[in-house]
Amino acid sequence: MKTDPGKPIRPARRVAGVTYAVRDVVVLADRVARSGKKMFYLNIGDPNKFDFATPPHIVEAICRALRDNKNSYSPSSGIEEAREAIRAEAGRRGIGSIRDIFVTTGATEAIDICFTALADEGENVLIPVPGYPTYNAILTKLGVESRPYFLDESHGWQPDLDDIREKIDSRTRAIVLINPNNPTGAFYDRDTVAALAGLAAERKIVLFSDEIYDRLLLDDREYVSPASLDPSAPVVTLNGMSKNYLAPGFRVGWGIISGGSAALGEYVEAVNKLLRARLCANHPEQWAIKPALEGDQSHLQEVVAKLTRRRDLMMELLNAEEGISCVRPEGAFYAFPRARIAGSDREFCEALLRETGVVVVPGSGFGQPPESGHFRVVFLPPEEIMREACEKIAGFYRTLAAGG
Ligand SMILES: Cc1ncc(COP(=O)(O)O)c(C=O)c1O
Repeated sequence: MKTDPGKPIRPARRVAGVTYAVRDVVVLADRVARSGKKMFYLNIGDPNKFDFATPPHIVEAICRALRDNKNSYSPSSGIEEAREAIRAEAGRRGIGSIRDIFVTTGATEAIDICFTALADEGENVLIPVPGYPTYNAILTKLGVESRPYFLDESHGWQPDLDDIREKIDSRTRAIVLINPNNPTGAFYDRDTVAALAGLAAERKIVLFSDEIYDRLLLDDREYVSPASLDPSAPVVTLNGMSKNYLAPGFRVGWGIISGGSAALGEYVEAVNKLLRARLCANHPEQWAIKPALEGDQSHLQEVVAKLTRRRDLMMELLNAEEGISCVRPEGAFYAFPRARIAGSDREFCEALLRETGVVVVPGSGFGQPPESGHFRVVFLPPEEIMREACEKIAGFYRTLAAGG
């Protein structure tokens, strides 16, 4: 049979709007790196690419699992030992009314499954802007509207609760809370978290509480999970091994569904149908969950101390530059500076990369307007590298501002 070699395979329309700026910049970065330029990767939210390593007892737990031939499929919701450890950890956080706990291939898979089980085309989910782009990517794929609620830079990137209230309508199915936030590093206090939990309970919408950075708080703050504040609120609490336990490559995360039982029964079953349909999460890696949650936590002190020093240095260097300003992050390892520029954030970031080898992610990749001049940087690199990178950003900006 003759086929037409020129006829392209048409991809599904649902993929057309899917973008993920954090990885999209890598294409140009690779090209610049191949030219031999010294590179400064401030784009990667992966601690293990810098001087952070998975604690040995966690690595050993997986080696043991592999040696013990724990290489079968696991139960679809995850191994019992891990689910019990997650339940105990949730208990320590004060989360009651737990309806279900499941282990996934990274928190990302939990987000995908929980949205797929919840929202139909034509419905909407409120997402923070600026915010982590996976939420938008998954909702776009599902044909569900991502409805932005804006974080206020002049108030330390805190959410505006009135704005959120106004944006909820009869087709709103969920609100996403990312605390601490990626890309701003902002931390939300008890009152804000309580207000969001109350809103979810009152309006019968699901609050997705993304707590993936909950142990990376830089200023001695107390973490509060919304699910611990209002047991009637329908909440999906998301967490995992990637950030707190320095193991993004394990691809291990989890979800906890909690809240009033009558409201959540059918939803829990819908989530479980999808969990069964994809068999299970990575099995050997699940054996690291209990040792991580219940074993030695001393790495956290070291990580937080390093991140605090690096955050302080980055703030000092960036905020010293006339025309660049940055709200001080209080958690995670991201900062979201703003440069007073004439063109788009993308042009700025691409020119910065080509000229200096410094890789940052344009703010529009997190939903910011392109003309606002925001970009995301990580403060994961060692001080001497970060100092050099920040000096390059400042030097490039000065030349640009001078019309060069
Ligand atoms: C806010 C947020 N949620 C989830 C993830 C992804 O988590 P995982 O590696 O468990 O899929 C990230 C990764 O950067 C993130 O920043």
